[in-house]
Amino acid sequence: MRLILVSNRLPVQWDGTPNVGGLATGLSSFLSRWKSLGNEVVWVGWPGKSIPEKEQRNYSKKMLEEHGTIPVFLKQKLADSFYNGFCNKTIWPLFHYFTANCEFSDLTFASYEEANQEFAKAIKEIYQPGDWVWVHDYHLFLLPGILRSEFPNILLSFFLHIPFPTFEVFRLLPERIRSKILEGVLGADLIGFHTQSYTQYFLRSLLRCLGIENERGIIYFQNHLTKAAAFPMGINVEQFSKYANSDECETIANQINVNHKNLKQILSVDRLDYTKGVLQRLNAFELFLKNNPQWIKKCKLVLVLVPSRTDVSSYQSMKRAIDEKIGAINGSFGTLDWTPILYQYKGFPFEELVPLYKNTHVMLVTPFRDGMNLVAKEFLVSQKNGMLVLSEMAGASAELPEAILVNPNDLSGMADAIKEAIEMEESEINIRNQVMVSRLKENSVMEWAKKIFNETEETANQNLNFQTKSIPPHSDSLLPKSNSPIFILFDYDGTLVPFQSFPHLAVPSKELVNSLTQLSKFSNVSVAIISGRDRKFLESIFFDMPFHLVAEHGAWHRAPNQTEWQALFFSNAEWKKEIKSHLEEFSKRVPGSFTEEKEFSLVWHFRNADPDIGLNAAREMLDELSQISSNSGFFVQRGNKIIEVREYGTGKGKAALKILPNTSIQTFVFGDDTTDEDMFRELPDHAISVKIGKSETIAKFRFQSTDDVHLWIQNLIKHLTKVHHDVTQI
Ligand code: UDP
Ligand code: G6P
Repeated sequence: MRLILVSNRLPVQWDGTPNVGGLATGLSSFLSRWKSLGNEVVWVGWPGKSIPEKEQRNYSKKMLEEHGTIPVFLKQKLADSFYNGFCNKTIWPLFHYFTANCEFSDLTFASYEEANQEFAKAIKEIYQPGDWVWVHDYHLFLLPGILRSEFPNILLSFFLHIPFPTFEVFRLLPERIRSKILEGVLGADLIGFHTQSYTQYFLRSLLRCLGIENERGIIYFQNHLTKAAAFPMGINVEQFSKYANSDECETIANQINVNHKNLKQILSVDRLDYTKGVLQRLNAFELFLKNNPQWIKKCKLVLVLVPSRTDVSSYQSMKRAIDEKIGAINGSFGTLDWTPILYQYKGFPFEELVPLYKNTHVMLVTPFRDGMNLVAKEFLVSQKNGMLVLSEMAGASAELPEAILVNPNDLSGMADAIKEAIEMEESEINIRNQVMVSRLKENSVMEWAKKIFNETEETANQNLNFQTKSIPPHSDSLLPKSNSPIFILFDYDGTLVPFQSFPHLAVPSKELVNSLTQLSKFSNVSVAIISGRDRKFLESIFFDMPFHLVAEHGAWHRAPNQTEWQALFFSNAEWKKEIKSHLEEFSKRVPGSFTEEKEFSLVWHFRNADPDIGLNAAREMLDELSQISSNSGFFVQRGNKIIEVREYGTGKGKAALKILPNTSIQTFVFGDDTTDEDMFRELPDHAISVKIGKSETIAKFRFQSTDDVHLWIQNLIKHLTKVHHDVTQI
């Protein structure tokens, strides 16, 4: 199989030198394994600078041959506004809770949209059915949606390498932008996050921003099903520990250490980013020296900072502040024969980084916020006897609780943690590290990618299943097979007419009324409107149409051209009084919700309530009512933003069977809700059943919306008119 990996950052820079950052380093090691299993891969991404147009052809050829990468060329101005602008001045700070650093601009978002289109173009040129496309990170939230609309059956995963913030922070994005981001990423079959919390925050944002609910992480959106779940990214444990134990590594480690043999090494390794809490760490180190003078001249802090996003002003000012702080600490604590901080402003290759890890006694990973942090994991599998001090704000902390966990805002707590770590008994360090290392072994980067692939495939198969039912309204399969009588059952809300904020506003359009009137003229066609609505409402809408009307989910029936209603079931609805006051309590508690009373049922509507509060209250109500419903003469059913409590033994399925003249008549049935599934189940097998909308169904076919139902009616009228005409011609 061919994997098309897509990320803004390629594993190598424009000149072929390796890139630093969790995404590039982590995925590179997975890819070697993927290829060794006989699979192919190409990596699509931005080269990191603009390449003149006349050089692009040769450049692409060279990059593909030498590194297996396909560059997406972005003009300098676009790249600047997309990458430095929307990506790193809006999403990055916002998703890391640095709201004060955020800039919101329509202009940079327009560039973000344009750049995502450019990525899509590059993929369209190479994509072939059967490829697995895996899109990475916050630069490309819109890409899955673009690809899905172009290739509906594409096997598509998305992974977010940074945190997904809580809804209160996510909502700071302007409405049009945040909706596009959420809708865009829903184009993927699978959306992966580093932690369970990020997944929950994403799902909650979907609910709050778009009103989209999920069923245990499964989301239905635009006729497509997406799964959101947590997949903590691992590292290539084997590669790190093998190298850490090699002679070569030992030699380099000794060389590095030659001048500092008696000093305990404290290490920190980061891209220079304000989210990493470097300044705070330096303050904590300073406090540690102040509080523990016995450690002066006995330790050193090796501070590795890899240059990053140097064109963004917040990064530049951070660098100045860090440089000054290092100077101040070295100036005030240092002596002619000892410098407390050894500062390296550059990136190190794997071969030098691992010896650094190996020499370390205390590893400081103390970001204010970090999606995962791979450095913490790499250190653990490379160290000899080093203790990890880890921020509880790093995604990795969920998997590494045996480290000394710190709050990066707590200066004295961090200073104490450095002391605890540097003075910890070797035996204690070993016990803690062994537990963490064995956990990391189980969840290596290969396992991580394998899980993502398997779950993507599984969801894609579910999607295929889901989509095979979709059918265009003019399809021949949905036409009568003969001139013999036909019986059509329509649910009302969500099937014939779209949902509105209030039930009384949901009425058929003039055009639909015309079509239904025309349909009623055919002598071999019987139509039934079978709804949860009450008798009065159905009469008011269909008063002049010769239809069967079935009200309250099958409780009442009015035959065509009759004025009297017949009860289809016997009921005394004794339960109603008690349950009504119960539902009304919920209506008082949840602003925007209300209770509707019908003869045999009660309905609690929460469509207009705050989505979160409404859904939580609905869950609570379902739970409470189902506990008291047994032997109480009623049952509870969840519908589309409603909960219905209904007389036991009633239901649309049973009612439909009662009004059907015989079971062999050609039958068509349309419905959108759980209550309609009753009909799909109970009607004879030959009935043509059509579900409207997205959720699970046992119906044979699926329409996208109420418009499709109207189109079907129009197509049927055309067909019946033709047949009628042909018959009279004969
Ligand atoms: N890294 C590197 N050389 C360096 C510093 C870091 O190769 O001098 C790598 C490191 O091994 C790790 C990655 O850069 O794999 C940093 O990933 P992490 O998740 O810790 O942070 P990010 O940069 O993604 O925010
Ligand atoms: C983080 C992001 C990556 C990014 C990396 C380096 O790990 O999640 O998407 O590539 O930082 O940042 P840069 O802006 O240089 O690509």
